[in-house]
Amino acid sequence: MQTRTLGTTGPQTSALGLGCMGMSALYGDSDRTESLATIHAALDAGITLLDTGDFYGMGHNELLINEALRTAPTAARERAQISVKFGALRTIEGAFTGYDGRPDAVKNFAAYSLQRLGTDHIDIYRIARLDPDVPVEETVGAIAELVEAGHVRHIGLSEVGAESLRRAAAVAPIADLQIEYSLISRGIEDTILPTARELGIGITAYGVLSRGLISGHFGRDRKLAANDFRGMSPRFQGENLDRNLDLVDALRKIAEQKGASVAQIAIAWVLSRGEDIVPLVGARRRDRLTEALGALDVTLDAEDLAAIERAVPAGAAAGDRYPAEQMAHLDSER
Ligand SMILES: NC(=O)c1ccc[n+]([C@@H]2O[C@H](COP(=O)([O-])OP(=O)(O)OC[C@H]3O[C@@H](n4cnc5c(N)ncnc54)[C@H](OP(=O)(O)O)[C@@H]3O)[C@@H](O)[C@H]2O)c1
Repeated sequence: MQTRTLGTTGPQTSALGLGCMGMSALYGDSDRTESLATIHAALDAGITLLDTGDFYGMGHNELLINEALRTAPTAARERAQISVKFGALRTIEGAFTGYDGRPDAVKNFAAYSLQRLGTDHIDIYRIARLDPDVPVEETVGAIAELVEAGHVRHIGLSEVGAESLRRAAAVAPIADLQIEYSLISRGIEDTILPTARELGIGITAYGVLSRGLISGHFGRDRKLAANDFRGMSPRFQGENLDRNLDLVDALRKIAEQKGASVAQIAIAWVLSRGEDIVPLVGARRRDRLTEALGALDVTLDAEDLAAIERAVPAGAAAGDRYPAEQMAHLDSER
């Protein structure tokens, strides 16, 4: 497995991380047995970085990772690096009602996560979205205290903009910023990515397949379950979907010439953007994971990159990456 290092202070990780969210939430129903097998296959392949959130299935995802690590071959916990997001407030019915970044809440969230994960430390800990009522310094300061106490190894951030990156980095070393980055979500390139680089903060990129939209497996006739985020995501609706899938068709031609799949080209493109970027792939089945791992063998030269740029120019996506009320929570979009 190829490796990368998250920022100047962060850990060395596998070059691809496994995002486990879809195994518990947001993309319709999932298969528990297949989810566990997928995590095991990822560990077998040398993936060390497992990403989760305490609110993915309201604890379900952390319990799943706990079980996967307990039932994996020996020393799986020692090899795995668990990245946890916290802070989301939810109703019993599952609605998201805000974020809590108060220091006491941070420590409370961490206590529950450690219990659910069955571990004595979290490798990277981050608030999923900033709490607008709590300065980032206070939230990050509370995680720094958890680092001091040995419960957390590294501090991360999620979906924050350049100014918040600077303010957070002034409090404590930040390993990585987790943020959406793909061929059709390139908003970080103007200021956020250069700022992260200036501050020595790595990037864990999510949505590298734009939640399956640019995977080559998503068709116009796909029926989405009521509990699938994509059913309300602007990029998956009507004309937007048509225009976005036209981009995928253009990408497919390049993939065919390279003898790779569309998903592999999309992941390889994110890998090519810098050694400081670790794509999180959201595979929830072993066949998808195998495909994603194949991206590590795809080399894109200058000509390939230029062809990809022509097929999917920056800003070509139709529709925002989140519904309006969720866009409002993104510090990175201010
Ligand atoms: N910080 C944040 O705000 C944030 C937000 C979202 C996600 N995340 C993290 O990032 C991780 C990845 O995000 P994501 O799931 O949206 O990313 P993604 O990799 O763009 O999308 C994953 C979806 O793409 C489809 N897919 C098709 N071919 C695939 C392949 N070869 N490999 C993987 N997936 C394939 C699958 O859907 P089907 O199974 O339906 O085909 C899968 O559920 C999440 O699991 C989560 O840990 C973080």
